[in-house]
Amino acid sequence: CWNILQIFFISFYWTCEKLIIDFCLEFFCCCQSLLCAAHSTKVSHTFFKVIKHEGLSLDVSDCTLFDLLKYNDVNDDEHLTKEEFYTAFDVNLLSLPDDQKVSVTTVTVGESTVLTCAITGERRPSILWKRNHQNLNSLNLEDINDFGDDGSLYITKVTTTHMGNYSCHPDGYEKLFQTHILQVNVPPVIRVYPESQAREPGITASLRCHAEGIPSPQLSWLKNGMDIKVKLSKQLTLQANGSEVHISNVHFEDTGAYTCIAKNEAGVDEDISSLFVEDSARKTLANILWREEGLGIGNMFYVFYDDGIKVIQPVACEIQRHIKPSEKLLALQEEVCPMSPGETVQKCVWSSAVNIKDKFIYVTQPTLDRVLVVDIQSQKAVQTVSTDPYPVKLHYDKSHDQVWLLSWGDMDKNFPTLQVSQQLTSCFNVKLFISCLPFYYRFGLILHKNEPVLHKINLETASYVKNISLWEYNCIPSSVAFTHLGGYYFVNCKPDSTGATQPQVILDSVTDSVIGQNQDITGTPYVSPDGRYLVTVDDDDGLMRIQRISERGEIQEPFDIHTNLHLSDLAFQRSFTEVHQYNVFGSSGRQTDVLFVELSSGKVKMIKSLKEATKSFDWPWSTKNRVMVGSGLFGQYLVTPSRESVFILDGRLNKLNCEIMDILKGNVVVWVGES
Ligand SMILES: *[C@@H]1O[C@H](CO)[C@@H](O)[C@H](O)[C@H]1NC(C)=O
Ligand SMILES: *[C@@H]1O[C@H](CO)[C@@H](O)[C@H](O)[C@H]1NC(C)=O
Ligand SMILES: *[C@@H]1O[C@H](CO)[C@@H](O)[C@H](O)[C@H]1NC(C)=O
Repeated sequence: CWNILQIFFISFYWTCEKLIIDFCLEFFCCCQSLLCAAHSTKVSHTFFKVIKHEGLSLDVSDCTLFDLLKYNDVNDDEHLTKEEFYTAFDVNLLSLPDDQKVSVTTVTVGESTVLTCAITGERRPSILWKRNHQNLNSLNLEDINDFGDDGSLYITKVTTTHMGNYSCHPDGYEKLFQTHILQVNVPPVIRVYPESQAREPGITASLRCHAEGIPSPQLSWLKNGMDIKVKLSKQLTLQANGSEVHISNVHFEDTGAYTCIAKNEAGVDEDISSLFVEDSARKTLANILWREEGLGIGNMFYVFYDDGIKVIQPVACEIQRHIKPSEKLLALQEEVCPMSPGETVQKCVWSSAVNIKDKFIYVTQPTLDRVLVVDIQSQKAVQTVSTDPYPVKLHYDKSHDQVWLLSWGDMDKNFPTLQVSQQLTSCFNVKLFISCLPFYYRFGLILHKNEPVLHKINLETASYVKNISLWEYNCIPSSVAFTHLGGYYFVNCKPDSTGATQPQVILDSVTDSVIGQNQDITGTPYVSPDGRYLVTVDDDDGLMRIQRISERGEIQEPFDIHTNLHLSDLAFQRSFTEVHQYNVFGSSGRQTDVLFVELSSGKVKMIKSLKEATKSFDWPWSTKNRVMVGSGLFGQYLVTPSRESVFILDGRLNKLNCEIMDILKGNVVVWVGES
């Protein structure tokens, strides 16, 4: 009998590598179907051993080899063909060549792509696709489909959120899978600063270039069409890995068009920064334009404080304008901050402000139930808009030119509402907790008070799309940050009733599903403007944890910085010394130092003695009782207020630039200018 069995198997070129004991049992019982995925063509020796060992003692049932022949020899030729044998046991011979277990596909952003599953075999069951353990076939996603029956996955208009790993396996054969690594390249997008400048001989000039792209673009410069490398002189140097041309002592012959070129595998982009070297006496057009740019309405901080609004030029620390509480709105009788009955001093109360395309600033006046509109060109308050009671937080969604407003309803946040629209008139009522984070393309997330759920909304229609449960992770979300690299949301959870905090939960924005927890990382997440760093601040254990996110969407191990500063707010700033890098400045809610961290190296520095912040209880509007506000992509200056003054930091030299006195509770700050 055993000989027959062996001949039987060998004659069918039995090709299973990992046969399981269950099979042997079933074989003798002739009962259930056999599922076997073939990995190789080797005859398995262990298999026979198993049969000899286990099989001989079997209590053989009434099904015999003869029955096998009898019932499955469909053509009655008294032989079992290979096909008949497979049919008898429902065997699928599936295979995946070793060299295709991992397959890398690189696409350029905006293109569409097809991922084809390399698992083949006769009667292959349908192919299932997964991303971050989520089954994609059943999700009905708009941009990811499994059209037809060839088992391929189609991704239309690939974005950087789509990067990452996709796996395919035949239905029922989870263990036999192929991994597709989808890499997304982005052609460079370049910006130079300034676009043009006029300088007098002997002065320093700096021309800066910023390029984003995946992989990180290489930068080079031409002057009037000639490669600048061959012209380097003592005065002219390339800094920050070539992203800046620095001329320490300009001469007339430095006048020229400087072209910055950014190149990577996906493409090339370039832009021109012009330098005019001429005597100030000569009123050329360039000279006039430059002066206007330097002294005009742009490149100012607007600080909103008790005694109105101050417009501050950070380079020279000059106050350009002071709008007083009693000042009237343009052509109206209304005042900027009308006195409430019972008050003796006319004071302003502000809580949040946004810059609308460098044309207007919208700022909330929570105790007046309104938003004030400041015109940037005329530097005047021009209009007010009534809102729900206690308007507290504004967010400007650039891509839809919409302003979102969160109002508390009362001081205890009992009747919160969210209003949206350019005019802030139409309203849709939702209860929500503290922040509305409408980022990235068409969707936003709303966090409700005391609910372990993220509510996804469509920004265009201002309607709910989906509710994503965080129940399993016992996480009531309190803040969220997003990176476009891999499309992750990092969700910070509120401490539970015992004071314990769950680690951050990571969400995949492609599938809107929870991937898992972010290691043991707790605290408020911040993501750098390029999406490449996640910085988490946990005040309880005094840790700042920095995680790189690779341009392939991998979240890396954290490195930790210990600080007892009780960080209130963070601002990212582009590095002045290294290309494609950011630094971070953190303000302290309780102490007087500012923390500076170079993200690429983890180098830390303190900027000391910046006086104390407005006390938390004097700042009920948010947990940030001391903001830190930067000045855009090329900005050199940052602002952080103390209780009675405002400090301007120089982010190039990482030191204090100046203090401007007599600004009480100036904790709402907006940057207007090159951003
Ligand atoms: C994708 O899989 C590869 C190889 O298994 C792994 O090294 C990489 O970290 C994964 N990428 C992501 C984004 O998880
Ligand atoms: C940029 O320059 C810094 C400092 O000189 C150096 O450490 C770093 O490796 C350079 N980075 C690149 C991308 O070349
Ligand atoms: C999500 O939750 C909100 C508020 O609880 C509810 O109004 C809405 O109908 C839910 N949306 C979906 C799509 O389930």
